[in-house]
Amino acid sequence: MAATPTRDDKFSFGLWTVGYNGADPFGGPTREHLDTVHVVEKLAELGAYGLTFHDDDLFPFGSSDEARQTEIDRLRQVLADTGLIVPMVTTNLFSAPVFKDGGFTSNDRAVRRFALRKVLRNIDLAAELGAATFVMWGGREGAEYSHSKDIRNALERYREAVNLLGDYVTDKGYDIRFAIEPKPNEPRGDILLPTLGHALAFIDSLERPELVGLNPEVGHEQMAGLSFTAGVAQALYHGKLFHIDLNGQRGIKYDQDLVFGHGDLYDAFALVDLLENGGPQGGPAYDGPRHFDYKPSRTEDEDGVWVSAAANMRNYLLLKERAAAFRADPDVQEALAAANATALAQPTLNAGESYDDLLGDRSAFEDFDASAYLNGKGFGFVRLQQLATEHLLGGH
Ligand code: GCO
Ligand code: MN
Ligand code: MN
Repeated sequence: MAATPTRDDKFSFGLWTVGYNGADPFGGPTREHLDTVHVVEKLAELGAYGLTFHDDDLFPFGSSDEARQTEIDRLRQVLADTGLIVPMVTTNLFSAPVFKDGGFTSNDRAVRRFALRKVLRNIDLAAELGAATFVMWGGREGAEYSHSKDIRNALERYREAVNLLGDYVTDKGYDIRFAIEPKPNEPRGDILLPTLGHALAFIDSLERPELVGLNPEVGHEQMAGLSFTAGVAQALYHGKLFHIDLNGQRGIKYDQDLVFGHGDLYDAFALVDLLENGGPQGGPAYDGPRHFDYKPSRTEDEDGVWVSAAANMRNYLLLKERAAAFRADPDVQEALAAANATALAQPTLNAGESYDDLLGDRSAFEDFDASAYLNGKGFGFVRLQQLATEHLLGGH
């Protein structure tokens, strides 16, 4: 396996990622704007297979119909020339002043109606370009102050919006599914649907829950101090991993959007192992795009942008190689068995066993020796983790 990306790896990038010009709350741009055509050509050259975008990345907010169409046509042309596809499209409901209190959940009803129209228009574009997934990241859907927003009403408005979008794609016959992207905070003090778990519960409340899944982002769960890999595993468990945003984050702080692998490397290793080897028969557990939502650091010039784009893909492939070697290692197999990791797949009750049967099983309680767990019956998890470390560091 060579750590050189090919189209089969399904690596995709947001236009806003490599296109990030370095502006942050403390300083302006450190790089010039990159043209869409140039970005697509470079990504194709580096081995990516897809480009994703927000409407406002492609044509600025407030563009005339004609200017909008010109940019769409230029994109179509370069996609045809390079063979890149658009696997996902998303809408910007956070940059323009009109969205300062959010889109779907703004306290201002006229803004909510405008937001819905903006999204419907962008769904038509997504369908036109053949995108299978429509991501919804509600970065401005939230609040700083408890009394400024009734959370139950806000969730009800969110629900109303997503239900309408579900009706729309169904009636239009579009082959599009929605993926909600949770984030705990930034830009709002507190964002609605802050974690994967909150979003899963919300999805359950919808009229067409089958159309809506998740777009988990590495850094967002880690900003909340949570294990990203465990969150993704739960999303898979519920059949809701519709898309994924890969990047790097170092601890609980602002959203760093570092290169994938440049944050918590252990968790990145565990994640790639889960995605690639966590399927029922040991194969891939997820076959959608491996989408990078990162920001090339503002210290870099344009060369650095492409170095960082390539680094995302290479790190993924290197981790994939190491995860395969880890799984194939007999020492690891043995350590997994010794840690009872595989035995967790066995149901706790026997087939057809009732609670009466369990109550009658003396070996489960009366004769069970709980004291054996003091000074004995270690699980050997540390040995397993050290084997993972050896593989990660090239020591095995
Ligand atoms: C962020 C988010 C966004 C979304 C994007 C797609 O924290 O800025 O991750 O980059 O992924 O808006 O909806
Ligand atoms: Mn982010
Ligand atoms: Mn994201």
